[in-house]
Amino acid sequence: MNKKTVRSGIVGCGFSGAFHYEAIQRVYGTNVEFAGVYDASPEHRDAYASERGTRAYDSLDALLKDVDLVHICVTATAHEAVAVEALKANTFAIVEKPLTGYFGDGSEDFNGDTCPKETAHSEALASVERMLAAEAESQARILYAENWVYAPSVQKEREIIEKTGSQILWMHGEEAHSGSHAHTYAHWKYSGGGVMIGKGCHPLTAALYLKRVEGRARDGAPIRPKGVTARAHAITRLPNFRDEGHLRSNYHDIDDFSMMHVVFEDDTVATVFASDIVMGGIHNWLEVTANNHRTMCNINPNSAMQTYNPVDANFEDIYVVEKTGTKQGWSSPSPDEDWFTGYPQEIEAFYRAVAYGEPIESDSGLAADCISTTYSAYVSAERNGAQVPVTWL
Ligand SMILES: NC(=O)c1ccc[n+]([C@@H]2O[C@H](COP(=O)([O-])OP(=O)(O)OC[C@H]3O[C@@H](n4cnc5c(N)ncnc54)[C@H](O)[C@@H]3O)[C@@H](O)[C@H]2O)c1
Repeated sequence: MNKKTVRSGIVGCGFSGAFHYEAIQRVYGTNVEFAGVYDASPEHRDAYASERGTRAYDSLDALLKDVDLVHICVTATAHEAVAVEALKANTFAIVEKPLTGYFGDGSEDFNGDTCPKETAHSEALASVERMLAAEAESQARILYAENWVYAPSVQKEREIIEKTGSQILWMHGEEAHSGSHAHTYAHWKYSGGGVMIGKGCHPLTAALYLKRVEGRARDGAPIRPKGVTARAHAITRLPNFRDEGHLRSNYHDIDDFSMMHVVFEDDTVATVFASDIVMGGIHNWLEVTANNHRTMCNINPNSAMQTYNPVDANFEDIYVVEKTGTKQGWSSPSPDEDWFTGYPQEIEAFYRAVAYGEPIESDSGLAADCISTTYSAYVSAERNGAQVPVTWL
């Protein structure tokens, strides 16, 4: 096959900008001409570019002129603005999760705990609508970077559902660990919410995706969410929380524990937990109970490798698994964490979509359902768990 070439760049030179760059190095289905990076912070972009021997652009505009595809790895507050700019330039936009959200009213004393969640819901949906409108007018597309969709265990489950005509009855899943490393992740105005959106979006989108797959395979149309019941709590901010230093506990106005119970249009269900109060390393999984099989997708940890280490210090220079509290005793080191997480597969699929027009499994429609479900879930949590309808955009 004659490989096509995709010219690309990254906007946002932080944590996700780094793992996107690693995934680009593993693209094999297209040639990649990597133009360079842009970040609003000159320090961030210069340090990132010199470390990797690439070019630091001094404006988004200049970068967009040189690329077919841009990776949007900026803070969620800027996803809409950067994506709309890219789409206007007919540049494909890989948008990190969450697609967008509600980041407050701009006031000094904005507080995510007390802000009306109906407002958060309608403003977040308005932002999604602006992005969808920009995509509709563009020759390019939004590629929604939900790595769980591309995680090998979720893709294997897709194959099982498609080939056996499964009906999924209930899914339950979780993304959890002991607390985010990012210091801005503490304030609703930077992240658009707390753990329910920040972590819950991953298992939620995987569940929404698999019901799409089921509907598509059997009837040619996705099965979409129609309602959600949710609870959100701030456990580490409880006055009676007894902090022993193992969990991050300095969140400002966001939830650190959440539960979403989604009802689909066929009345089957999915239950999604997300939390920042779980020790023992990152815990990412989705279990599917269907009418003809049951699957556990273990994204992290998984049992590909299990190691017993008698002395913590022996593993000082060895990466074991994300967010582990100790490397002593039994652990499940991931031999290739990025691969199990779906990052390289996701980026490979997106480059193929740009070069050869291959279908996009994680598209703007799936991302829109995720945002719509999540902000309906915040409305439900404000009402102590009353079911709230999910709007289709
Ligand atoms: N899929 C995943 O597993 C995963 C993991 C971590 C983060 N993320 C997502 O990636 C996004 C970024 O998170 P991060 O942890 O990389 O943040 P980060 O703070 O490490 O990096 C963000 C960078 O964006 C830059 N930036 C902010 N606004 C900008 C703008 N308007 N124009 C250009 N540059 C701008 C900042 O200067 C910073 O360098 C978030 O949406 C987050 O949810 C996804």
